[in-house]
Amino acid sequence: MPETTTGPSTTAWWRTASIYQIYVRSFADANGDGIGDLAGIRSRLPYLRDLGVDALWLTPWYVSPMADAGYDVADYCDIDPVFGDLGGAEALIEAVHEHGLRIIVDIVPNHCSDRHPWFQAALAAGAGSPERGRFWFVEGRGEGGDLPPNDWQAYFGGPAWTRITESDGSPGPWYLHMFTPEQPDLNWEDPGTLAAFEEILRFWLDRGVDGFRIDVAHGLMKKHGLPDVGPVPIPDDLPYQDRPEVHDVYRAWRRVTDSYAGERVMVGEIWLPTPEQYTRYLRPDELHSAFNFEFLCSAWEPAAIRDVIDYTLASHASVGAPPTWVLSNHDTIRHVTRYGREDTSFDMGHKRHDDPSDLALGTRRARAAALLSLALPGGVYVYQGDELGLAEVVDIPVDRIQDPTWERSGHTDRGRDGCRVPLPWSGDAPPFGFSGAHPQAEPWLPQPARWKQSTVAAQSEDSASTLNLYRDALALRRKLISQLPAAVTWIDAGADVLAFSRSDAFTCMVNFSDVPIALPGGYRLLASSDDTAGGGVLAPNAAVWLGADS
Ligand code: GLC
Repeated sequence: MPETTTGPSTTAWWRTASIYQIYVRSFADANGDGIGDLAGIRSRLPYLRDLGVDALWLTPWYVSPMADAGYDVADYCDIDPVFGDLGGAEALIEAVHEHGLRIIVDIVPNHCSDRHPWFQAALAAGAGSPERGRFWFVEGRGEGGDLPPNDWQAYFGGPAWTRITESDGSPGPWYLHMFTPEQPDLNWEDPGTLAAFEEILRFWLDRGVDGFRIDVAHGLMKKHGLPDVGPVPIPDDLPYQDRPEVHDVYRAWRRVTDSYAGERVMVGEIWLPTPEQYTRYLRPDELHSAFNFEFLCSAWEPAAIRDVIDYTLASHASVGAPPTWVLSNHDTIRHVTRYGREDTSFDMGHKRHDDPSDLALGTRRARAAALLSLALPGGVYVYQGDELGLAEVVDIPVDRIQDPTWERSGHTDRGRDGCRVPLPWSGDAPPFGFSGAHPQAEPWLPQPARWKQSTVAAQSEDSASTLNLYRDALALRRKLISQLPAAVTWIDAGADVLAFSRSDAFTCMVNFSDVPIALPGGYRLLASSDDTAGGGVLAPNAAVWLGADS
């Protein structure tokens, strides 16, 4: 019976936290413009407190032209007017704390907006200037420099380079943008970049935020000489990600967060092929934790999930960092939909929007996955709407699609809007209470009429709802599971079942098969993802939590 242990047990809040991701545009709209805002979040803090999460992570709230929904920042120290203002952010931070919650904000250091004064100054200053040195301006190849400097492709499709025209009308160099052309990559070899971001971190730490989610944390440094990736890029050795020098940035940032009282934390968005690679960012003097995308991407199959759990625990133990568990976020396909497909795995570069999905099956599995992820040691993320069991909205009319991926991919990838549709809070028709006192408001993405069964209000009334499953499970997690030793002991329960205990008082069992399985005797049922199952049975595609029989 193999046993794996995580790192040293400590009581730091972030080691066992449940963190709720708020996609600000789509959480709650107070002013009736159809776009979520900070006042909307404030008005819903009692909901989040009662849900039982420990902390909130907010997607970018900064001034932005919104070429990539706020991930193109034009001022890191102010709030976009569509969301509110700085005073509103300060009031929100305070109100979050008054509700017994913590708040993590998104920081976007790999790139800024092309409207940021840094980039505008770089365009104006001309070749060889320190202002241009903040970015990657490089002469093109070929005759007249009219070919991009190398063969890198942007993540959203197309070349990662755009050529500028100098102020005198002559063709200029190209600048690097790993995402849209409106998101120029910053040059992290320029010492001014580190200094500027340290000030930005302090700006928000001084205002009381409890930490940062770091966007594209693996991407900041580029390989010297900006070499081609070639026709067959090597995933473990890409010149635009996971360069060794990036760790010095996080060591410097850690010194900043450690200098503040109150356990301020940094969570990395690190998409790298293996946990061995991303846990290098979690050494004791770097980031505190990172999203476990292997878990998110894994097929819903017992052997695959067990493997991910085992190597997650082992790789995090090697650096003393807490593992995390995440099923969905604002960039992925909602897991209700993923888990109802024939191929239940997820690949960011190949989202398979048109794959059919059995949503009843996906829902059963998603509920089981909720109990599984909330039972494991470490931290857990809940993406807004997970707790409502929302599926991906796959039928957004193409003329309403906002994600730049759609255009950049030449209309081959619908992008990420399907998981970003504004939340349904109450009522029988759109906007389902999303815009509070403004029932005539039109949400920035259309909500499906079928969501009337999924609203917070409807689910609150139904004891068997996914919302109540989450509420009960999060309460038990806080009271019992988060106090348990950070060890997982596997129990052999057959090839279709994953079963593990965290102590004599807590066992989690997940049935991946389509047939019911007898539960062992001598336990007390603490929670079940399927409350139609009779006693003593673990229903198909379901999970249970078992406690010691008293
Ligand atoms: C991250 C964000 C994503 C954004 C991208 C560029 O992956 O999660 O939403 O588009 O970075 O900032």
